Amino acid sequence: MIVTLIAALAGDRVIGEASGRIPWDHPRDRDHFRARTAGHWLLVGRSTYAEMEGWFGERTPIVLTRDAAFHPFSPAHRLASSVPAALDLARANGVTELFVCGGATVYAASLPHADRIILTRLSLSLQVSEPVHFPDFASDGGWRLQSLEHWPAGEGTSPARLETHVRTGK
Ligand SMILES: NC(=O)c1ccc[n+]([C@@H]2O[C@H](COP(=O)([O-])OP(=O)(O)OC[C@H]3O[C@@H](n4cnc5c(N)ncnc54)[C@H](OP(=O)(O)O)[C@@H]3O)[C@@H](O)[C@H]2O)c1
Repeated sequence: MIVTLIAALAGDRVIGEASGRIPWDHPRDRDHFRARTAGHWLLVGRSTYAEMEGWFGERTPIVLTRDAAFHPFSPAHRLASSVPAALDLARANGVTELFVCGGATVYAASLPHADRIILTRLSLSLQVSEPVHFPDFASDGGWRLQSLEHWPAGEGTSPARLETHVRTGK
């Protein structure tokens, strides 16, 4: 099973605010995220899951939480109390690619298991009072940039780079 982290980042690897909000709206990135994850199993932290309520459609989220009493919005949504337990659950259900969709703590906990990272780097510098960040994955040197696509500025949206990184030696 391939484990893919997928995220959108502003400058300084900011992915959102501690209060639980993504402080931008980028329609092209939204379309890209929808298309890449369509029909797939996703791994999301309990906070991100709450933010995405009503969005999942035909996707199957595994909600990461240590709260054994937590109730998902739908009986079709699954729970796991650790990243290894989530990976086992996905594998047991025949999943061939699991998309890790955040937030910050889940990206960090999943990184050691990741094969691929798909990042939208938005050319945005934000003033965010309590930013949360994507992990500094590149500092361990174990990744290489496999593909790069430039997105020009759109109507009211910033330009962006779509990067795919793969683990070296895999
Ligand atoms: N830009 C992007 O692409 C993107 C994508 C997704 C989210 N975000 C942003 O990220 C922020 C949320 O991130 P966050 O870190 O605060 O919250 P989060 O990762 O979405 O959820 C945190 C919760 O997940 C559970 N959890 C996390 N790691 C776990 C582990 N290893 N084992 C078991 N349970 C675990 C815990 O739930 P319990 O407390 O229930 O145990 C924890 O409180 C928001 O601002 C959101 O908008 C951005």
